[in-house]
Amino acid sequence: MAAPFRIGIAGLGTVGCGVIELLKKNGNAIADRAGRPIRVVAVSARSRMKKRICPVKSYRWASDSLDMAADPKIDAVVELIGGQGGVAKRLAETTLKAGKPFVTANKALLAHHGHKLAMLAEKHGAPLMYEAAVAGGIPIIKTLREGLAANNISAVYGILNGTCNYILTAMRETGRDFHDALKEAQKLGYAEANPSFDIDGIDTAHKLNILSMLTFGIKSEFKDFRTRGITCITLQDILFAQELGYKIKLLGISRRIKNKIFQSVEPCLVPADSNIGSVEGVYNAVHVEGDFSGTELSIGRGAGGGPTASAVVADIIDLARGRKVLPFGAPAEYMKKAARAGAEDVFSRFYMRLEVVDRPGVLAGVSAIMRDHGLSIEAVTQRGRDPGKPVSIVMTTHMVKQKDMEEAADFIAAIKSVIKPPSLLRIEHF
Ligand code: HSE
Repeated sequence: MAAPFRIGIAGLGTVGCGVIELLKKNGNAIADRAGRPIRVVAVSARSRMKKRICPVKSYRWASDSLDMAADPKIDAVVELIGGQGGVAKRLAETTLKAGKPFVTANKALLAHHGHKLAMLAEKHGAPLMYEAAVAGGIPIIKTLREGLAANNISAVYGILNGTCNYILTAMRETGRDFHDALKEAQKLGYAEANPSFDIDGIDTAHKLNILSMLTFGIKSEFKDFRTRGITCITLQDILFAQELGYKIKLLGISRRIKNKIFQSVEPCLVPADSNIGSVEGVYNAVHVEGDFSGTELSIGRGAGGGPTASAVVADIIDLARGRKVLPFGAPAEYMKKAARAGAEDVFSRFYMRLEVVDRPGVLAGVSAIMRDHGLSIEAVTQRGRDPGKPVSIVMTTHMVKQKDMEEAADFIAAIKSVIKPPSLLRIEHF
């Protein structure tokens, strides 16, 4: 068997320890598949003394992770620190400039600097591998970059954040409140260090941005698309959606609309009995529409040490085999900014929940605004009857232009008897 493939790991949290454990447990089978053993030769983290879930004493400690980039006894650097800048970015740049393979699970880094890092990787002939950055254990990067490379892809969308899916599922199944469900997701090791990244949709936006770059070969920036998280979703929305035959899912959506790209992160209603509607708990799902492949849906665990380690080690095995692929499947210099589709270009059905004072004529005022914007109402439900007191009204629409719907919602918010801004969610049948 060939000489071991030697790696240095920077970052020894849940994922770092997951990688060490996986290599220990499955080392023999991996050596057979890679044609050589994979050996951890150095590790590095912020504190050497910290109590960890995996023993690391037997590995050489690199007090400065950047030293691993120049170390001739290390064949690849594995970055599991996280964060869009700081040490992770310096380590990526130093490693790639040294012509050495760089493996990362860092979606923030890739989402913000993916194009520049790909340029650097290509210039220095160094592989940049990031399977673990999107959808944990689902091999979606390889699928898009290699398996579906023959297709023109018209859409990629999915559930890309395990924590949010876990929270939404727990709320619906058990009636638990948002914070309780979030705490449990944190305890299980799904949530980001800063859980606002999960619940405000930022983590989903990071992953979607990577998928958009890869799928459409575009340079994409966050300011170019709208990101909404799940903090606006109440138990009431979840129950109303259920009554109407839907579930609420936080979706990352990237699709071609004519010659533009529509990209958005937002909670949407999806049919409860659809494939994507049945993806629950910490599971992620990615749906891809290719012109020759047709549609396909991959489902798997999107968060946690095990699934993420599985994706990291898959990249390491590819490197040990000597495989080299361009980071985004085509030369990074070909990637260009795309024309963006906005609310003017998007047609959809909508769910709107209103909190109004229960008095005659309120609904007539709301309907008049809908009529004036050319919006066709599909159904209306009022929950409760309490004259002079707040009640909830839920309305669904037929297919309408998003811009018209949003403008109407602004007018409706200004009606005196409407107590709170309308909660407006798209209904996605895809
Ligand atoms: N916090 C992320 C999630 C972890 O919940 O999906 C994986 O990126």
